[in-house]
Amino acid sequence: MSEKKPRLCVLISGNGSNLQAMIDRIQSGQLEASIVAVIANKANAYGLVRAERAGIPAICLEHSHYASRDEYDMVLKDTIDTYTPDCVVLAGFMRILTADFVHHYAGKLLNIHPSLLPKYKGLNTHQRAIENGDKEHGVSVHFVTPELDGGPVIIQSRVPVFAEDTPDELAARVQEQERQIYPLVLQWFVAGRLSMKDNKAVLDEKILPTEGYAND
Ligand code: GAR
Repeated sequence: MSEKKPRLCVLISGNGSNLQAMIDRIQSGQLEASIVAVIANKANAYGLVRAERAGIPAICLEHSHYASRDEYDMVLKDTIDTYTPDCVVLAGFMRILTADFVHHYAGKLLNIHPSLLPKYKGLNTHQRAIENGDKEHGVSVHFVTPELDGGPVIIQSRVPVFAEDTPDELAARVQEQERQIYPLVLQWFVAGRLSMKDNKAVLDEKILPTEGYAND
């Protein structure tokens, strides 16, 4: 009898280092899931190459080929649904999603955002943290709700900001953390330990605080 693993569909726009971390954790047995499709909104997204190398269906749906956000999100949703995923994973997918799309995947749509939410929703988070003189920055994994970068936080990871940091240096420090926490959260999800209830993240039957899981 073939083993039935939880099915992840991963959406990307670029490099795909988070995708790679998931592929690696699946291969090492630390993430008990299978990635059934990787979808990018840009043809030159390097993550598509990573997917192909790992033998995962890699699909490009160029957003510029569609007349409106509604139309694109409908096609995106139909494409995703042909793969019947248990979880839709936004991993550097740089698009604002329509409320219809988000509602369709309520409770099974996850995102990683490079800031300590609710700080710095949107773009250029590393630069904004430096410009504001923050001593600490980081990354959040959260459930997606229609409010941009506003859904309940599951976990955050913090990094120091040094006086001489450039946005790229700070991004690299944050991304090291991303590669640790996103696969961990996905393993919680596929193991049935994590859910969203009443707009709150719940882990092992306990409502997580607004800043997410704390390991202390
Ligand atoms: C990551 O740093 C992720 O946090 C960010 O894009 C990068 C993608 O890197 N996501 C966002 O900014 C979402 N608003 P990757 O393609 O190498 O995984």
